[in-house]
Amino acid sequence: MATKNFEQDVTDRIRARMKAEKEQAKQGANPAMAEAMKAAIKEEDIFFTSKESDPPPDKVRLSSLVPSWDHARGTIDPFVTVFADPHPLTPGPMVGYRPNQDSLAQLAYSVENTDVPVWMSGDASVGKSSLCRYLAHITNRPFGRVNFNGHITSEDIIGKQSYTGGELKWHDGIIPEMMQIPHAILLLDEPTAAPAEIQLSLQYALERDGKLLLTGKPCDASEAFITPAEDFHFLLADNTVGMGDSTGRFIGTQPQNSAWLDRMGTFIMVDWLSAKDESAMLTGLYPVISSTLAAKIVSVANLLRSGMKQGQLSVAMSMRVTQAWCMHAVNLRDVKQGFVLAFLNRLDNASERQAAEEVYRNIFG
Ligand SMILES: Nc1ncnc2c1ncn2[C@@H]1O[C@H](COP(=O)(O)OP(=O)(O)OP(=O)(O)O)[C@@H](O)[C@H]1O
Ligand SMILES: [Mg+2]
Repeated sequence: MATKNFEQDVTDRIRARMKAEKEQAKQGANPAMAEAMKAAIKEEDIFFTSKESDPPPDKVRLSSLVPSWDHARGTIDPFVTVFADPHPLTPGPMVGYRPNQDSLAQLAYSVENTDVPVWMSGDASVGKSSLCRYLAHITNRPFGRVNFNGHITSEDIIGKQSYTGGELKWHDGIIPEMMQIPHAILLLDEPTAAPAEIQLSLQYALERDGKLLLTGKPCDASEAFITPAEDFHFLLADNTVGMGDSTGRFIGTQPQNSAWLDRMGTFIMVDWLSAKDESAMLTGLYPVISSTLAAKIVSVANLLRSGMKQGQLSVAMSMRVTQAWCMHAVNLRDVKQGFVLAFLNRLDNASERQAAEEVYRNIFG
């Protein structure tokens, strides 16, 4: 009995020592020091200086403005300002629009909390421009858009002199005009297609506290610069991330001056809606379409989108096309005819048509 007690005692002591050693190894060589450090540094001290989480009095959660918001997805849900009345330049409602929740949240957060330009990239027709428009719509912000191309001139967007009532007068272009509207969002669409001199003339305006020089305005220096109004935002949307096009699909896009890209404070990559969301968008617009049919249409669209990425197709099956397909299918009660009218007839190359038809057959039989 005594031996057993002794053995038990030794086993217990060995176990206790091993436990203590393990504990010590976890805490580092000096447990007292480790404890003191733990007590001194709390997680919130490392990341945040306060735990403030009360909603700001004049803001609402983004999710409260988006009927299709799915809380289960765990997307960031920033507070945003909603202006009391729409401005004359606030876009109207977008019928059937179902935003990409993650990209919208990143965009809304940026516009609400930062004063640096946002660069949005994503495939053609993925929904970059409409996302900006949607944000302006739900928050009642004034919205403007400049579509860049290789022929745009600074007279078109910055301003020019012209005769009004027999008098030669200066007229601001869309960029200075929008920059002077408080809380406005100005979308610069496809900026990589803009001529180099236009990009250069915007460099200073894109900086934090930057200004726009009205090149061409005959005036003294005090009137030559436009200072942005309070809470004015530049958003830029492009197929590339400004590094030029390595795929050969976006002819004409030039690698950007890195000084220009450096002025962006936020980069957002916009992707296609998830298959589930796009199907829900289609059945929401056309309730007579079953969710099975909508899912099949979206499968065809996603396969064709991959085909475009791989260079087999030159035309994107955008969400505008899936909507048009449903519209024709409903009107004609014929799914294949809907596909032909909304998409197939747009492809003038025989091998592209063949590839698209094969994708259709694979899904619909
Ligand atoms: N989330 C969406 N819900 C419904 N329709 C959408 C959605 N996103 C885009 N669309 C529709 O798809 C079409 C293309 O969208 P948009 O012009 O915004 O794409 P983009 O990425 O800016 O294209 P591009 O690269 O050609 O500039 C538009 O008609 C738009 O209304
Ligand atoms: Mg666009």
